[in-house]
Order: sequence, then structure tokens, then C-alpha cells
Amino acid sequence: MRLETRLVQFNLCRMTSIWDLANPQLRDLAVYEPGKPIEETARELGIDPAEIVKLASNENPLGASPKAIQAMRAALENAHLYPDGSGFCLTRAIAAKLGLKPENVILGNGSNEVIEFLGHAFLNPGEDVITCQYAFVVYKLLATAFSVRTVETPSPDYQQNLDATLEAITPKTRLIFIPNPNNPTGTLVSQGAINRFMSRVPDSIIVVFDEAYFEFLDDSPDTLRYVREHRNVVVLRTFSKIHGLAGVRIGYAVAPSEVIEVLHKTRQPFNVNSIALAALDDEGHLRETKRVVKEGRAYLQEQFAEMRIRFVPGVANFVMVNVGDGCAVFEKLLKRKIIVRPLKGYGLPDWVRISVGTQEENKKLIAALREVMHCS
Ligand SMILES: Cc1ncc(COP(=O)(O)O)c(C=O)c1O
Repeated sequence: MRLETRLVQFNLCRMTSIWDLANPQLRDLAVYEPGKPIEETARELGIDPAEIVKLASNENPLGASPKAIQAMRAALENAHLYPDGSGFCLTRAIAAKLGLKPENVILGNGSNEVIEFLGHAFLNPGEDVITCQYAFVVYKLLATAFSVRTVETPSPDYQQNLDATLEAITPKTRLIFIPNPNNPTGTLVSQGAINRFMSRVPDSIIVVFDEAYFEFLDDSPDTLRYVREHRNVVVLRTFSKIHGLAGVRIGYAVAPSEVIEVLHKTRQPFNVNSIALAALDDEGHLRETKRVVKEGRAYLQEQFAEMRIRFVPGVANFVMVNVGDGCAVFEKLLKRKIIVRPLKGYGLPDWVRISVGTQEENKKLIAALREVMHCS
């Protein structure tokens, strides 16, 4: 039988749209919108990229550590070789620093990739994940991609309420995401609230503490104790923020070894590149970044208060600010060569998120914001 005849017979020629083939849950899935890139903005404004201040993606204002750059340059020499898929050296270094075993650590192409491992490992259509309202949007994207419902507990005061999370648990709950501090609100759940929550959460649920901004904290909750206690807990960390390595894409999860073993089964063989595997934990650079961010955040919050602009006091390297019309202020700041992050996609149309920059960048932002908001 000729192919066309067979296709007609099987009604396969009737396909009118790609959605006859694609997974239907993807139809309404919005593609993740990152902070507007510097290059794109420079092209649109017809200016030199160096003139632009980007405070839109919570990157390190000081850049990567010079030691990490040197290690990555050296790693380039072997760019023709496949990377060590297990990340032997980096995994060991992370485990040693945390006082855990290498079997407790898995590396990802950014912590975002580890979030995807969790979907492959634990989610099935019809199940639920729980997170808070205004949580980091990637959890919802993941849930939708895996045909799973996202239950968002209300955060009227922009804080996460873990009692509400406990109340939202049903037999369908598989994963609970607790971003701590949360992005975009910048707020922190205390050790006390975490302990109360962990004493009540059933062990049939995987609890994910997403700690992308952990190193910026002065008083950081200890969630690794639950890994040591063999609870079903996954702690996510990243080299993208305080380490200043967002561009090389490297993050990791820490969990009991049985959980890590499952996650490894979902990992592509060479998921982390050899340049990222050369990432270094440069304590001096971390300390300096933390200092600059702490001072910058205090300055920004002081200025917002003086301008009588409402903001959510944050503990990470960004601040969420109520500017009335987030998209309009984003556009006006863009014309003044400053990129911030509008939060309409988070259901926060009045707000923008502003990353802490160098002091020079923070001052430029404040001067531009004063003009835009007509504050003298
Ligand atoms: C709360 C949170 N988790 C995870 C990530 C992902 O970071 P990466 O994939 O760069 O490690 C981000 C990035 O902005 C974040 O804000």
C-alpha cells in the first residue's frame, strides 16, 4: 500500500495544527520571561551596552570572582572533552563544605535544572504541588509541564504562611516548594516556622527548600539538618547569585542519598559543562559581595522610604517595590538605560523587582526613579 493511502486510511493527514501533536497542557503554558537582556536593550535604544544598568535578574553586582574566572579559563583548555558527568571534584568540594557525603549532592545546569529533575522523578498527571502565592514562577511552569496542579497558599502580606501550606496538603500532594528567601518578595521563613512545619508534614511528601539566595542571609535557617535526619527534604542552592556565575549555569541539590539516587536517573549524561565544573567557592569574594549587597539594599530601602514608595523589606539581593504601574515604570526606566523587572506575570502589576547593584548603579537607579515617580 502506498504511504499516502495508508496515511489517509489512518486519518493522519487531517492534522491541522501542531496542537494535534503537542502535549495539550503546554498550550497555555507561558514561556518563562527572563529579565530583559542588556544586548537587546542596547540594540533597541541604539546605544553602547556599557551604558546600561541591569538590575533585573538578581545577578552579582561585582561579577564572578577573579579566581573562578582563572579556573574557568584553565578549564577551557579541555573544552574538546566531554565533562565529567558526575562532577566528581565539585560534588566532593560541596559535600565537604556542608559536612555531608558526595552521595548527598547532585549538580544541575543551574538549580532550575534540578527543579526539572524533581518533576521527572516525582510528578504524575493529576497530582499536586504546593507553594505560596507570589513564589518563584518556575515551580508553576514545571507543574503545568507535568500536568500537575499548583496549589498556591495566600500571601496577603507577601510572607509565606507554612500553616496554610500544611492545611493545603491532600493525598494528591507530591512536592512542596518553599523558596527561602522567596523571589520576587525577598521575604524569609524563620527557623521556628520551618521546624513547626517539618514536625507536622507527612513523610510521603518531598519538601523542597529553594535557597538560591541563602548566602546573603545573616541569620540563615538550617534546613540541612533535615537532610542529615533522612527526611524527604531537598535543599537547592546555586552558583548563579552570590558566586556571580549565572552565565555558566551551575546549581545543586542536597538531599538524603536515596533521593539523590532517584534524581540521578533523570539527569542527562553531560548536563553540567566542564567550565561550570571549575566553579570555585571563593570565600573572600562571597564576603565582599555580601557586604556590597547589604549596604546597597539598605541604601535602596532608605531611599524608597524617603520617596514614600512602598516596598517589602527584603533579605536577598533585590527589593520588591510598589510603583503604581509596574510595566509603565519599567518602560520609563528603560528609556533612562536602566532595566528592572516588572512583576505583572506574578500577579503583581503594581510592583517591580529591583536587584541591588554597585553603589554607582544604585544611585543611578534612584535618580531615574525620582524623575519617573516625580519625587524631588
Ligand atoms: C528562588 C530561585 N530559585 C532558583 C533560581 C534559579 O537559579 P539558577 O537556575 O540560575 O541556579 C532562581 C533564579 O532567579 C531563583 O530566584
